[in-house]
Amino acid sequence: MRAQTVRKEVVEAAAAYDTLAPRYEDLISENAVIAHSARMSLEIVSRAMSDGEFLLEIGSGIGRETLELAAQGKRVVACDPSRESLRLLRDRAISRGLSDRILTRPIPASSLRELLKEFGPHSFDGSFSSFALSYEPSLRTFPDDVWRLLRPGAPLFCSILNRLCLAELLTGAALWVPRRGFGRLLGTVNLSVDQFSVQARAYATREVLDAFRPRFEVAGIWGLPAIIPPHYLNRLLGPAGGLRAGLENLDRSVNSRWPFCRLGSHTGWLFVSRP
Ligand SMILES: C[S@@+](CC[C@H](N)C(=O)[O-])C[C@H]1O[C@@H](n2cnc3c(N)ncnc32)[C@H](O)[C@@H]1O
Repeated sequence: MRAQTVRKEVVEAAAAYDTLAPRYEDLISENAVIAHSARMSLEIVSRAMSDGEFLLEIGSGIGRETLELAAQGKRVVACDPSRESLRLLRDRAISRGLSDRILTRPIPASSLRELLKEFGPHSFDGSFSSFALSYEPSLRTFPDDVWRLLRPGAPLFCSILNRLCLAELLTGAALWVPRRGFGRLLGTVNLSVDQFSVQARAYATREVLDAFRPRFEVAGIWGLPAIIPPHYLNRLLGPAGGLRAGLENLDRSVNSRWPFCRLGSHTGWLFVSRP
């Protein structure tokens, strides 16, 4: 855990993801916890967005989910403040023959209002934001901004860093990686992104519900991952060997059940836009 204690330069999320973008896919293949969470997220997003045709992704990165949904026949507007991630997304779209189904816009979640002018109110059939909203300094304006872009009854899926992570508490991570464990409990965490550190927010269930309830109803909650320790503790599972597949299956079978759905590292929230 020595590497975890090295102080890294704190930068804006977009700058850190610009640097990470070319290696983002390697990160997923090298870390089994990230890979598992990414699989779970894509399954939920694909199911939730299945009825929509015109979708909005917020914090798309290099397009891990946008590209899959475009391959399923959707049209997607992919937003991210990291221009390098969006450049790679467009390259990947061209090489998969999907570029006519995808538009990219270099904006953070806090600038969604810019899309209102371009696409018009209530023009999207669904929206999703996987592992990105925690980089916004607050959730104050986001629910209303995204609601204005969604048609009534449209799904919105967001995975947001959770305040209370059961696996982190049980492994005692707060004691041996205090920057992560205690930071999360206090609501502000410095996350390692490539060689940088980026400030992110962790939210309690009540804070998320209070922010979204005026505009959205809750349609589902998942822990991502629910019982597997978060990705920076991946090495704990190193010796698990064949047990890893069993743990992942167990995680999948409990991740939408109470209380595990509320005790994961991220919480996946499926909302439905109120009329
Ligand atoms: C962990 S990556 C997730 C990327 C993609 N959603 C996925 O699941 O593979 C986080 C992404 O959030 C983006 N991001 C950073 N700040 C953001 C903000 N304020 N609003 C929206 N996205 C942001 C980063 O540039 C990065 O691409």
